[in-house]
Amino acid sequence: MALPRRLLHEVTRAKCSWAGSLADPNLWDRLHAQALPGSPPNFDWFFGYEEVQGLLLPLLQKGVPQGPAAPPLRVLDVGCGTSDLCPGLYTKCPLPLNVLGVDFSPVAVSRMKYLLEGHGDYPGLHPRHPASCLRFLQADARNLGALCPSGSFQLVLDKGTWDAVARGGQAGAQQMLSECLRVLAPQGTLVQFSDEDPDVRLPCLEQGAGSRSVTAHELGPFRGISYFAYLVQAAQ
Ligand SMILES: C[S@@+](CC[C@H](N)C(=O)[O-])C[C@H]1O[C@@H](n2cnc3c(N)ncnc32)[C@H](O)[C@@H]1O
Repeated sequence: MALPRRLLHEVTRAKCSWAGSLADPNLWDRLHAQALPGSPPNFDWFFGYEEVQGLLLPLLQKGVPQGPAAPPLRVLDVGCGTSDLCPGLYTKCPLPLNVLGVDFSPVAVSRMKYLLEGHGDYPGLHPRHPASCLRFLQADARNLGALCPSGSFQLVLDKGTWDAVARGGQAGAQQMLSECLRVLAPQGTLVQFSDEDPDVRLPCLEQGAGSRSVTAHELGPFRGISYFAYLVQAAQ
């Protein structure tokens, strides 16, 4: 059942003409529903948590008070799909984290809740740090509303979601960027993971980033493909 997803990945990479429908929640529901019992519980676009944990840990530690009384660091994954990013942070990161994964596909959200709570073959997920927690909620990344208060997340992650939203037009992508930056704490970092070239992505991000700095960092190659992490954070 992984084949159509791989094909879709190729379609995204090729920026095929019908890829505008990648902004359609019904398409995503159909894609997320394709993973059947017996298949791996997660499907990751580009790469998984292991490949980027070395990048994420210093960003989480940066400028945030730590110690026994410090509250867990808040992390948001917009368009989490059924990725291993949120589960990886929850089960492998040594820091106390309050992780929220949101996706506009109810199918993706229910699959992740199923994986978290444990059913059938899945034993459920357990935190690496005893104070860590993990939730999944249905939400549109272009309007996170009261679900995500302004300035409340140290780390906002987007792995492949801009790529999908931008297929529906730049206005939606800029709206999502503005929401990600609204919910970001002043010293926090927005990280977009993508295979899109900096020549294309950087001007789009700089347009919406205001006074924040935007930098591109090459990742990989993973399985022969190079990716980028785009970091948006307060200018030093
Ligand atoms: C390319 S997939 C990436 C999924 C996941 N982040 C990963 O790395 O595997 C894009 C995801 O964004 C979600 N998505 C697309 N548009 C969205 C929107 N406006 N709000 C929330 N989620 C959205 C889709 O349902 C899908 O799960």
